[in-house]
Amino acid sequence: MPLGDTILQVENLQTHIDTKMGLVKAVDGVSFSLRRGETLGIVGESGSGKSMTALSILRLVPRPAARIVGGRVMLNGEDLLSYDAERMRRVRGRAISMVLQDPQTSLNPVYSIGGQITEAIANQQRKLPRLELLKRAVAALKTVHVAAPEQRVRDYPHQLSGGMKQRVVAAIANSCEPQILIADEPTTALDATIQAQYLRLLKEIQQESGLSIIFITHDFGIVANMCDHVAVMYGGRVVEYGPVRAIFNSPAHPYTRALLSSVPAVDRTVDRLYSIPGQPPMLWDLPRGCRFAPRCEWADSRCHQEYPPTVPSLDAGQAAHTASCWKLEDIGLENVRC
Ligand SMILES: Nc1ncnc2c1ncn2[C@@H]1O[C@H](COP(=O)(O)OP(=O)(O)OP(=O)(O)O)[C@@H](O)[C@H]1O
Ligand SMILES: [Mg+2]
Repeated sequence: MPLGDTILQVENLQTHIDTKMGLVKAVDGVSFSLRRGETLGIVGESGSGKSMTALSILRLVPRPAARIVGGRVMLNGEDLLSYDAERMRRVRGRAISMVLQDPQTSLNPVYSIGGQITEAIANQQRKLPRLELLKRAVAALKTVHVAAPEQRVRDYPHQLSGGMKQRVVAAIANSCEPQILIADEPTTALDATIQAQYLRLLKEIQQESGLSIIFITHDFGIVANMCDHVAVMYGGRVVEYGPVRAIFNSPAHPYTRALLSSVPAVDRTVDRLYSIPGQPPMLWDLPRGCRFAPRCEWADSRCHQEYPPTVPSLDAGQAAHTASCWKLEDIGLENVRC
């Protein structure tokens, strides 16, 4: 299915968190856009700000410590950051849904599956009679291929396997037919077969409904299979963005290149996995220049002094491929070879 118009535009989003160590700039000027039917992958090391970016879009950052201090989150041309609480509540679930890493924490153990799906639907469509709600819950379970949904609606979370629970979470997220699904490492708790089934299911839902997906993951295999575009985050910022093929075939930012070389290849035997030397930056004490400079083998004094510009690729087929790096400004993004 060809990608449609832009439905979400995140512009210079900034979220700060007060911590004992100091002010953490967890999201520090993140921008990207998402089109209808597109899957955008967000990758990056632990602590790079992926989840906080997702939570900021839904305005669900942990308060009072965290607050969104700047930027715009434009959904269909309107800035969600300007919405009041009631309007924002209507956006969650209806326009944008979120699936978290662990289905265990997303489902309430004391309510039945049917109860939890009907509650999600009733939250958005208050006037539906109970019988209709139940019918919709059964239908939602059918769309995620849960067998015998009429019986399953009466089950409680502990009666389901891990893969089944994740399907129920998907059913809840999908029950209000959102335009955007944000999936924050939704398959980490699943084994490989169940994970593959779950990803196929998401693709199926996407093909039928034109759903746009933001997929946060550590797994480059998933990125290759699922995503159209990729945003690579480092130290609260997007350091490289581009079509999935460009990111895999010609990664430009030294961090992306290092990240990809730490992924084992099926056709190569390796003595030990490459890991990126050094530590991710402390977000309460960020370096003045490029945040990756202290770990970058190509960094010179300029990299340590000033944050690099965003350099676009001049390759005709890779119009939307950009990376933030001083060296790339000198040599040109399209001239980096693997
Ligand atoms: N509730 C919180 N209180 C204080 N700091 C937080 C809180 N949640 C996140 N942070 C900090 O914000 C930064 C970004 O965290 P975030 O959860 O977005 O990282 P992430 O990229 O999702 O990492 P992971 O891959 O481990 O999920 C981190 O430095 C983290 O320590
Ligand atoms: Mg996270």
